[in-house]
Amino acid sequence: MAARPVIIDCDPGQDDAVALFLAMASPEDLEIIGITTVAGNVPLELTQRNARMMCDIAARKELPVFAGCDRPLVREPVTAEYIHGDTGIDGVDVFEPETPLQDRHAVDFLIETLVNAEPDSITLVPTGPMTNIAAAIDRDPGVLRGIRRIVSMGGAMREGGNRSPSAEFNVLVDPHAAGIVYDCGRPITAMGLDVTHQVLSTRERVARIRELGNDVAEATAGMLGFFHRHDTAKYGSEGAPLHDPCTIAWLLRPDLFATKRCNVSVEKESELTLGHTAVDFWHVTDRPHNVDWTCEVDADGFYALLVERLARFGS
Ligand code: RIB
Ligand code: CA
Repeated sequence: MAARPVIIDCDPGQDDAVALFLAMASPEDLEIIGITTVAGNVPLELTQRNARMMCDIAARKELPVFAGCDRPLVREPVTAEYIHGDTGIDGVDVFEPETPLQDRHAVDFLIETLVNAEPDSITLVPTGPMTNIAAAIDRDPGVLRGIRRIVSMGGAMREGGNRSPSAEFNVLVDPHAAGIVYDCGRPITAMGLDVTHQVLSTRERVARIRELGNDVAEATAGMLGFFHRHDTAKYGSEGAPLHDPCTIAWLLRPDLFATKRCNVSVEKESELTLGHTAVDFWHVTDRPHNVDWTCEVDADGFYALLVERLARFGS
């Protein structure tokens, strides 16, 4: 079966970086037709540089990387250096990547690619604030016909919030964009904190990755060795949640996850609960069922998949 064409829209971020590695390790499953970057964990000039660094480390310098929106649609920018470090990918030594930055703006790339694609052919994988994708939909709704599915990391239900008591970071940074995407009418699989907080990069799991002994595994172990600090101190759990790789893992092994179709709506007005995702899991309203909300994950199966795929970089 032909590999599934995907565009990964990200804000590296250590966990975004691992999601990129997992996708790059799976060419028979996923054809990465573009990596678009957005302001999120750190400013755009760093997220685009970090994405290109990961292409170098994975020896995939042919992958086209685009810079997109440098701020949310409406809100003032919010970043997360307190989690990811000033570089956005603390845990690996930063270098100037050879992978070039494409000249086109990411939103132009998204529009031109999706408008000219076969209907229902391209899967979008946003792992940061959804500003680029929302901007493309807003500028040219004709992009929708080319979208097969959107597999996003963002939002939360039972887990509450991480950046605020009631909102997850990606949605909080750009709630207006998240609302446009959730309501766009295309199939959506959403990975929220409810599942990502179940896939913790424990010391044992990081050690298994480091033992693989290739450059990608070494970079992954280094980044996870830094990335866990905030969450470990905050939650008292061991290891950081590997949020973004859950999107790629679902594409590779959907059997590792359980989802339920329901309504997800975003709070865009309240100062107290801005960015909250109201997940109508029990269908208590008549709001349209716009999202396949992910509610369970086989964490051991997820890490077995990650280790198996990262091992490929050494062969
Ligand atoms: O809330 C977690 C999400 O916010 C992840 O995508 C992480 O990389 C940050 O972007
Ligand atoms: Ca991210």
